[in-house]
Amino acid sequence: MTIRRLPDTLVNQIAAGEVVERPASAVKELVENAIDAGAMHIDVTMVDGGKALILVQDDGRGMGPDELPLAVERHATSKLPDDDLFDIGFLGFRGEALPSIASVSRMTITSRTADADSAWMLAIDAGLRQPVEPAAMPKGTRVEVRDLFHATPARLKFLKAARTELQHAQDMLQRLAMAHPAVAFSLSDGTRTLFRYHAAPGDLFDARLGRLAAVLGRDFADNALAVDTEREGLRLRGHIGLPTYNRGNAQQQYLFVNGRPVKDRLLQGAVRGAYQDYLAHDRHPVLALYLDVPPREVDVNVHPAKAEVRFRDSALVRGLIVSALRHTLDQAGHRASTSIAGTALDALQPVHQLAAPLAPPRLPLPLPHGGAGSLWSQARPSSGQINRALQAQAPQAGGFEDLGAVFGAAYSAAPLPQGRPLPEGPADEQASAFPLGVARGQVHNTYIVAQTSDGIVIVDQHAAHERLVYERMKTALADSGLKRQMLLIPEVVELDEPACDRLLARREELENLGLVLEAFGAGVLVVREIPALLGDTDVIGLVRDLADDLAEWDQALSLQDRLADVCATMACHGSVRAGRRLNQAEMDGLLRQMEATPHSGQCNHGRPTYVELKLKDIEKLFGRR
Ligand SMILES: Nc1ncnc2c1ncn2[C@@H]1O[C@H](COP(=O)(O)OP(=O)(O)OP(=O)(O)O)[C@@H](O)[C@H]1O
Ligand SMILES: [Mg+2]
Repeated sequence: MTIRRLPDTLVNQIAAGEVVERPASAVKELVENAIDAGAMHIDVTMVDGGKALILVQDDGRGMGPDELPLAVERHATSKLPDDDLFDIGFLGFRGEALPSIASVSRMTITSRTADADSAWMLAIDAGLRQPVEPAAMPKGTRVEVRDLFHATPARLKFLKAARTELQHAQDMLQRLAMAHPAVAFSLSDGTRTLFRYHAAPGDLFDARLGRLAAVLGRDFADNALAVDTEREGLRLRGHIGLPTYNRGNAQQQYLFVNGRPVKDRLLQGAVRGAYQDYLAHDRHPVLALYLDVPPREVDVNVHPAKAEVRFRDSALVRGLIVSALRHTLDQAGHRASTSIAGTALDALQPVHQLAAPLAPPRLPLPLPHGGAGSLWSQARPSSGQINRALQAQAPQAGGFEDLGAVFGAAYSAAPLPQGRPLPEGPADEQASAFPLGVARGQVHNTYIVAQTSDGIVIVDQHAAHERLVYERMKTALADSGLKRQMLLIPEVVELDEPACDRLLARREELENLGLVLEAFGAGVLVVREIPALLGDTDVIGLVRDLADDLAEWDQALSLQDRLADVCATMACHGSVRAGRRLNQAEMDGLLRQMEATPHSGQCNHGRPTYVELKLKDIEKLFGRR
């Protein structure tokens, strides 16, 4: 065997093996070229999933007759004017895409520059170039790729059904479209237009949101928060979905670096880290994040399809994303996604025909003991009642002691939102003073129904309380530590010995979380103190459940790492668990506390803690609109 240089066609085919994996990758390269050429309109057609024909037409700067043969030559590019691989200002830079695609297909490129009298065409079949010929076309470039991979049958065999290939290309094109909102894009399969995005108006930030709404749906735009920060020359902007607007996989996370769609592990990990507090492990946020960094800070020449990048200072990038996303989510306060109300309304079927007239309610309903009244009599509480209820939020002896216990000292310390008391006046006005409204009653001892200025809110009291406990524990742990509350009569808990040992082994950690335990002989524990913010607690149930939890959890993890779970267990045994009747002050107290607490719109697993139904939607249900 002698060593020899491989012919160009073969070299290009080898490159194609890396660069052009499937029709979608060819589309990506051609569309990126169009974007680099400054096109404002890019139209893509794919027949038979791109296997028969890929056609990309743009209105960019075009190429002259001398440039065309160079364009399909290996390592010929117009995009590295200074020969500097670390100062890349275009999507392309290797001069590899066109020769690679041309080596495994039948390609024609027709192109015309703005100042030329006519267009020129170059045909190339499996790498064999024909002479350039004059052609007719307006300014721009049109690339036709027929019979992709006909020259490499092995690759052809790996292609999936046309629909699947089209789907991949669609995803690819949508990502590019999100990164370049000022450019109009369309995709057709030869008979049908799959999508058409017009140039999105406004400055870049607004244009991106407009384009995101066009691609991901209005729903996303309604449930997204804006991110915009800058640190040490890095700029992060974009729109991130509320935690309650989550998905079963991470497909809908769109990440861009310098206008380039990437699927980068570092960035994905940072996103996961930022949301981990608000979502269960198997749920994923929807978001689009645009990171702009000085070209020298990032190496884009690390992946054949340029889908990954490498940052010079990855810790800086990670830190920026995590803190920006957390900060933004913090600002969202109690907001939960609007789509939840939609789902709820869809589930509500209006009753068209009643077999028998509804029996009139037997009034008056019995008053709950110690409560502020039945649902019916509470329908329109007097302003005096409400103000009394709100004043009662400060812990005090008497009828409201439960409330003080539930929320502890922070209750009185937490100022009301807007810092003003409820206005005197009709109930509707009072309701409009607060985003989550005024409690009108409790149903099934589990849900609080509140009236807002323009609708109703249904709160899952248990889920909401769980989240409040969690947020307050987190804050307390970060500042001064958790307040503990001494039990007047220490609680003796009998368990089996291993369970007892498990708890005692974590004694110090539990103490930091406010739970003070002591050994009391084989299989017996004494509980002396509990977290003050839990209030009235079923101590025995709590300790037993914690012992069960510990058996399940990884021994290596600290309880702090499992804080969400510990809080869930603790909140389960606190005062506001499902099935407990709440009085007016407690209900309103819970609502006010939710408004003042970040992330209270969802529970620790990304489920909503409340649903809001707008009056206009309710009216629709009853055919009033
Ligand atoms: N649609 C187009 N409009 C105008 N010029 C184009 C177009 N497509 C390609 N070209 C020209 O042809 C050259 C070669 O394109 P090709 O895609 O092969 O390489 P590249 O874009 O420079 O780098 P890469 O291989 O990284 O994509 C480009 O540098 C550009 O000058
Ligand atoms: Mg290119």
